[in-house]
Amino acid sequence: MNKEQIKKRISELKDMLDEHNYKYYVLSQPEISDQDFDNLMTELKTLEDENPEFITSDSPARRVGSDLTKDFKSVTHSVPMLSLSNTYNYEELLEFEKRIKNVLSDEEVKVEYVAELKIDGLSVSLKYSNGILETAATRGDGTIGEEITNNAKTIKSIPLKLKQKQFFEEFEARGEIFIDVESFRNLNKEREENGEKTFANPRNFAAGTVKLQDPRIVASRPLDAFFYSFLTKENKNETHLDNLILLKKIGFKVNPNFKLCGSIEEVMDYCKYWENERDGLPYEIDGVVIKVNSLWQQKKLGEIAKSPRWATAFKFKAKRVETKINKIIWQVGRTGAVTPVADLEPVFLAGSTISRATLHNYDEIVRKDIREGDTVVIEKGGDVIPKVVEVDKTKREILSKETVAPVNCPVCSSLLIKLESEAAIYCSNENCPARIKGKILHFASRGAMEIEGLGESLVDLFVEKGFIESISDIYLLKNKKQELVKIERLGEKSISNLLEAIEKSKTRPFGKVLYSLGIRFVGSGAAHKLANHFKNITNLIKASKDEIEETDEIGPSISESLIKYFSDKRNIDLIEFLQCEGLKFEVETENASNKLNGLSFVVTGTLKDFSREGIKDVIIKNGGKVLSAVSSKTEFVLAGENAGSKLKNAEKLGIKIINEDEFLKMIEERE
Ligand code: IVH
Repeated sequence: MNKEQIKKRISELKDMLDEHNYKYYVLSQPEISDQDFDNLMTELKTLEDENPEFITSDSPARRVGSDLTKDFKSVTHSVPMLSLSNTYNYEELLEFEKRIKNVLSDEEVKVEYVAELKIDGLSVSLKYSNGILETAATRGDGTIGEEITNNAKTIKSIPLKLKQKQFFEEFEARGEIFIDVESFRNLNKEREENGEKTFANPRNFAAGTVKLQDPRIVASRPLDAFFYSFLTKENKNETHLDNLILLKKIGFKVNPNFKLCGSIEEVMDYCKYWENERDGLPYEIDGVVIKVNSLWQQKKLGEIAKSPRWATAFKFKAKRVETKINKIIWQVGRTGAVTPVADLEPVFLAGSTISRATLHNYDEIVRKDIREGDTVVIEKGGDVIPKVVEVDKTKREILSKETVAPVNCPVCSSLLIKLESEAAIYCSNENCPARIKGKILHFASRGAMEIEGLGESLVDLFVEKGFIESISDIYLLKNKKQELVKIERLGEKSISNLLEAIEKSKTRPFGKVLYSLGIRFVGSGAAHKLANHFKNITNLIKASKDEIEETDEIGPSISESLIKYFSDKRNIDLIEFLQCEGLKFEVETENASNKLNGLSFVVTGTLKDFSREGIKDVIIKNGGKVLSAVSSKTEFVLAGENAGSKLKNAEKLGIKIINEDEFLKMIEERE
């Protein structure tokens, strides 16, 4: 074959494989045997390997890349990914309808709904440019998510290329990534047998998988995805139902159980039906989503407090089961709080085996009169940690004894204290090994400093052997390498890997460093907001309570806790030590230059050397602005191949159109 013929054959194979893939993974109606499919795939892979110039990002042979993702980049969603208000019963559904009718005027009060299953997974947004999948991102906090493109591409039901019945220059699909219950159970069982940590439910499994650094491992796990909405400027549909049909037409997997309902009563019947039938589904659902069908009405209804007024979630009741409390254990956390946990007779509930449940605090134990040996009802709600709902006192043994609160710390025997204002009891010893372990584990955990390998067993070992007494000791481990390798079960290699991971943690951004300090009430979201607001630790340390509260979403409990933390000299010493070690205590200034200062760009078409997100990054880092639509205010339109309506618009408005090379020259030449 000559080059021209090879190119043609590659294109033909890609089309065939896309189609078979779609029939198998989206429609579940395969037309050819696995063997025939594999043969076509092998042919494509071989041709591409021999002619790499013809490899494109949408090639079905390139779903699984071999590059490891180092850090998941943050992506700002073009339109925030909203959350849903919740309803739990018929009355609340009626109130939802009432709110709708209050906004719509009399002539429009006829409202139709689409009811859909609420898939219990994690939401994803896929951006397509000229029909090709460009980026995939998690929801994150709704405004900023994480880019997971390489991992999302391994999910076979996600189209790498849209079946373009209608051409969309920019298209964003939103949906839910999930794993089916059976695969979840099998994989969890395998993990248990290998001594690995198991996942509490399919949702956590899917979320954990999507965040893995190696897409090859992601590809080995059977993730799947249903899609339920999209954004594009070029939508001519008038109803949500038509949107679902369009999504299906262009290649997305749409859950087939949606229903058009003419009244809220019909919606209620749908909810009741699925609450009873949910166990028969191969995937987990945690409720029903109800959406106003008319897009025009949706627009008019708008949103309140980050959730749309035109939709709501009907949440199913949490699943409950009865079991016995074998023992009540008192655990010491990193703040010193001593909390009771019920050690249960293992039971299977909502996808996993449960052997522990939280009892919150001593007051709760007293209120419900919970005792060792009791038969209790436990519930697993939206959150992962199961809780004890009630005690079946008819099954209580005659000799059972009331639970008493401990007086001494179960770990270090120090006296416990109870603050007037709080339900929790605290260990009074700052150097309690349990507290140290908790602090270190938090510091090294995901979302904080992410020190790979520094997990529970190693932290236990280091604290017990006296290698670690405080956070700063983590960064002094490098001086103790000789002694560390002598510890039984730790080889030279694993110590080297650990020390490397500790060094690597120094690149974590300020927001993560701040979170990892474990300051009371300063969660990951608050830490990032504070970091962005104050830019560096010095500004934050010297800020007053009022100044701290000027930060978006930061209230008095956080500000008071910060003031208290910084007033302790030991904490300031720790921060200074970590600064000297090279940890980041300031946000990085992102501007590579200000060469594009004040200039605005609209990007359109497919570029040679940049992805859509990549070029946006370059523009912003050099001080420019990226606009989504062409208007008379646009200064430049950066056009790649197959540019569509935006280019035409720019021509009409007489806006300067440049190509990629001209753009790069601009950055090189401008001073
Ligand atoms: S619609 C503004 N439809 O539920 C509308 N969400 O609590 C946003 N979810 O973040 C979502 N199945 O991850 C919608 N059929 C469905 C859904 C669904 C699952 C998830 C989604 C969202 C969360 C909202």
